[in-house]
Formats: sequence, structure tokens, C-alpha cells
Amino acid sequence: MSSNSFTAPKGTYDLIPPESETVLAVREALAAPLRRAGYGYIEPPVFEDVRLFARGVGESTDIVSKEMYTLTTKGGDELALRPESTASVLRAVLQSNLHRQGSLPVKVWYSGSQYRYERPQAGRYRQFWQVGAEAVGAEDPALDAELITLAADAYRSLGLNDFRVLLNSLGDRTCRPVYRTALQEFLRGLDLDEDTRRRIDINPLRVLDDKREAVQAQLTGAPMLADYLCEDCKAYHEQVRTLLTAAGVEFTDDPKLVRGLDYYTRTTFEFVYDGLGAQSAVGGGGRYDGLSEMIGGPALPSVGWALGVDRTVLALKAEGVELSAPARVDVYAVPMGEQARGVLFEAVTALRREGLSADLSFGGRGVKGAMKAADRSGARYAVVVGDRDLVDGVAQLKDLQSGDQTPVALDALVTTLKEKLK
Ligand code: HAM
Repeated sequence: MSSNSFTAPKGTYDLIPPESETVLAVREALAAPLRRAGYGYIEPPVFEDVRLFARGVGESTDIVSKEMYTLTTKGGDELALRPESTASVLRAVLQSNLHRQGSLPVKVWYSGSQYRYERPQAGRYRQFWQVGAEAVGAEDPALDAELITLAADAYRSLGLNDFRVLLNSLGDRTCRPVYRTALQEFLRGLDLDEDTRRRIDINPLRVLDDKREAVQAQLTGAPMLADYLCEDCKAYHEQVRTLLTAAGVEFTDDPKLVRGLDYYTRTTFEFVYDGLGAQSAVGGGGRYDGLSEMIGGPALPSVGWALGVDRTVLALKAEGVELSAPARVDVYAVPMGEQARGVLFEAVTALRREGLSADLSFGGRGVKGAMKAADRSGARYAVVVGDRDLVDGVAQLKDLQSGDQTPVALDALVTTLKEKLK
């Protein structure tokens, strides 16, 4: 079978060295501010009962109605690969009773792959990676502001600066229904296709998000949610804005920001990187005060976000940020002959156990090829041992920066290298 018989499924890609190192570094950097803010790591399974997403994310959303990878197990269970993790995380918190064990909010973060059967394009994949955070069980504008600030700090720590924060409030169960009715009335008077008309009944706010020119042109004069917010929602939103300003986080009020998931209430936000074309949202989130009850739990007002790792990497490239260097070793061992291989295998093992990174030339290649490999490995030192050296009980230690070569007694090799690389 030729090595090209199989390719990665449509909409997916392989993470391979050296770029894979960048991705690991980005995941770590996005999570670091969360750990400093008291968020604990959580890892739910990648598949769940399909009804969790239908109820949680919403039957009327594209994510649930069109994009889920569903499967029926041999035992007859209907499962779905997670299209997002907020519903899963909340389910896990409820199931493990975390919300009853200590003080609220329960603050957790996660890092994992998500699955959406979308039309693939640059920045839009069928398997993608998110680092996310959820703060469960507290209604406090400082929590919303904390999360937005942590995300902004995470991007900046990576060297990403040209992103924008869009901010909106979607109201709560008091004021949103009033707005919804007013919007539906307005939309029903427009000239729209059948699909969009159906959407007016199920999810009218999404119509505002329609990218088509013909639709947008008719939307001027549409009632805006901001004008319908109740006093509580208005006051809450004002506090989020004030706290963000105090934290030095710049944001743009975007009264049209409607997110593609049904569970949001009040604060919603998106992180946008303009250099990415159509898929410009590098992250997003918001408050979801009713989700717990929607999936059978007690009232637990919550807020969270998810940052797209794939798009963050693209944004960093677009901004010209030089990311972490590929993995390299400190020492590269070049054995010439079988006996030398045994000796160096032992030395490399000892070095690794001492906490140094070391690699060995495998496959019995010639010294020229092996030295090339040593250079490519990024090692500071090459250790070469041939038959002659074995007789003398030494290894040739070559400084790959200066080119200097010195013999070192084999039994002092590990300590010498440790000393030099300190
Ligand atoms: P979301 O806006 O659907 O929110 O996704 C968050 C981020 O994941 C997006 O901003 C984007 O960067 C990335 N993303 C989404 N779809 C794709 C895709 N097909 N390919 C590549 N990247 C993608 C959520 O998932 C919510 N669970 C966020 C949240 C957490 N809200 C509250 N808590």
C-alpha cells in the first residue's frame, strides 16, 4: 500500500512537527491566565447524549440542526461528538455535584477538540480545538469582566494585539421575550425567503445576523435589543462595561452581536481578528443563566468563553508573531559501530534521567549523515564515539556552535555535559 492511500478526513488536518509545537504553546498560553485566576481543569468526554446538545445549545441552531456528528451505538444509545463544550462541562459539574461542594462560582477550564459538520474553508474545520472557561453558579458582573479580561490577557501574552472585543447584552427572561415579539412583528413585514420566514418563528434574533445584502438592507429600522433591556439588565451591563474599562480592556459595543447558540442571556462577547477573512472570530462567549435548568439542574447563573486555538494560530501568523522554537535537544549522540551504540545508548539514557534532553543517531547511518542530523536537531553538543575512542575510554565532545572538539573520559561524560549545559 502506498503511503498516500489515505488522507485525513475532509475538514480536518494533521498537527505535525514543528508547527505542532506552536499549537501546544498556544494552548498553554491561553490556559495560563485561567490557572492564575483559580480555574481548575475539567475534562468531560468528547461525546455525550445527543439530547444534551439539543436541549442545551438549542434545536433551532445550525450547530445542532445541521452540524452535529451523531451516532447510534451498538447498544442503541444516541450520541453526538461535542460541537462545543459548555453543555458538557455544565453536565459534568451537575453530575459530580461540584456546585454543592464548595462556594460558588465553580470555576473550571478545559482544552479539547470540538466537532462541527460545517463547510470547510480557511479557519473553519470539522475538528477544531478550543481552550474554554466556565464560571458556574454566580451572577456577578465582575465575573463576566474577569473572563473577558483573562481572554484579552491570554491573547496579549502570545503577542497578539490587533484583536477587537465586541460586547453586547442579550437581555434576560423578563425583557428578551418582549423584544423578541417586537422583532418578529417587524420581520414579518419584510420581503424574505421561506427559510428566513421560518427562522422568524424559531430564532428571530439570528435573522439580524444574516450576512446577505438583500436581507441587511431591509434591517435598517429594526427594533434593537438595547432599547428593550430591563433596568436590571441595563445596570448589570453598565457594571460589566465599567469594570472592563477599569481593567484597561478596550471593547466595542455591538448591539447586533447575536451568537449562534441559544443559551445566552445578558452579556455576550466575541474576540475578532480582522486579518482572517470570513472566519474572523477567534473566540467568543457569554452568560448563560438558564442553561442549567434547561438540562435538568437547579438555577445556576453562569458565564464562560471558548477561544479557538486553530484561528488563534492563524491570527498569530497574520500578525507576524514568531512563535516558540521547535523542540530541540541539548545533546546528540553519534555512535560509530555497534559497541559504541551500546555505550552511547546508556549515556543518552543517563542524560535524560538527569533532566537533559538528548537524542541518538539510529539506523547505523554514516558519520556524515549523523552529523547533519545532529545539526538539524538543534543540539548544542554532539558526542561522537568510534572504535578508537572506545579503546582510549573517551568520547569526542563537539561544540556545534564553535566547532571545537575535545575528548572527554567516558565515565565523566554525563557529569561534564551536565556541568556545561547548566
Ligand atoms: P463558539 O462561538 O461557537 O462558542 O466557538 C468559540 C470559538 O471556537 C470561535 O470563536 C472560533 O474561534 C472557534 N470555532 C468555532 N467553530 C469553528 C470551526 N468550525 N473551525 C475552527 N474554529 C472554530 C462556543 O463554542 C461556546 N461554547 C463558547 C462559550 C463558552 N460560551 C459560554 N461558555
